[in-house]
Amino acid sequence: MTKPETPARAHPEPAEAPDGAGAEPPGSPAGAPPELRRRYTAADLAVFTREEARRFVPQGGGDPRSDAVLAWELLYRLEPELYDRLASAERLHPGVVSWLPRQVDQIAEVGAGTGRLTMELIGRGRRIVAAEPALPLRRILRRKLAAVDHGDRVEVIHGFFDQLPLPSDFADLVAACSAFTPSPAHGGEDGLAEMERVCRPGGCVAIIWPNHLDWLATRGYRYVSFPGPMSVEFASVHEALELAGIFYPQAAGEIQRRGSRKVPFEVIGINPPRDLAFKVLAG
Ligand SMILES: C[S@@+](CC[C@H](N)C(=O)[O-])C[C@H]1O[C@@H](n2cnc3c(N)ncnc32)[C@H](O)[C@@H]1O
Repeated sequence: MTKPETPARAHPEPAEAPDGAGAEPPGSPAGAPPELRRRYTAADLAVFTREEARRFVPQGGGDPRSDAVLAWELLYRLEPELYDRLASAERLHPGVVSWLPRQVDQIAEVGAGTGRLTMELIGRGRRIVAAEPALPLRRILRRKLAAVDHGDRVEVIHGFFDQLPLPSDFADLVAACSAFTPSPAHGGEDGLAEMERVCRPGGCVAIIWPNHLDWLATRGYRYVSFPGPMSVEFASVHEALELAGIFYPQAAGEIQRRGSRKVPFEVIGINPPRDLAFKVLAG
């Protein structure tokens, strides 16, 4: 298994991950820049439902200004359209999508967000169930699905990695994109076991844009990566500069100098969404 040189930005980890499971160093691109963390305060944590608070602030308290994980979770709930603008610019490598099984019966996706992966799954399964805990993101995803052909193949539901309201052996493919981490709040051992429970024998569990590859490898996951240059593709130069000011402040100067809406991932300093870890369950 080859490790990416830089971690995926979209998988923040708590400062102290359990059993040494891959916490990112403070200030790494996997965290949240101060510009994002400053948007929220501890008072905003009241937006969490009880189920969310149990996972994201298990000890109570918490401060999004010092905790990158909380800042991202608040972004999903308080500024979901802003998050969607970012995710829409960070497109998956086409090789990742083509690698996934096609013409399958049922697919389950966990942590679907606003549908970066979900929209690609529409053509691959007869029925897709997309689980997402954050209500504002579910609303955006439903809006997008209503606007596309065959969007009605996708059912958007509430669910967490460690508690999926789906039967055992439900899906031929169970996938998560930029959402699963070894932290119990974002998957962990229970979440991985739950994804595998929902996957039928002979089916595939795929963790797309993974980090913590060693953690996944020790649990039987193999790694695939697709080569080639990749850029974050913003809608305009103006959009690139505005979003960089919040999410990639370290790259904002260079983005301004280049004056292009397409920004190579190396300029931003995050690992591109070109890879996945997968396991085919014993049949
Ligand atoms: C970086 S976003 C990725 C969203 C989408 N998959 C994408 O690629 O754009 C992470 C997602 O994981 C979801 N998430 C966070 N904790 C979760 C949990 N315990 N169970 C399921 N999803 C979770 C968030 O609500 C968010 O939608």
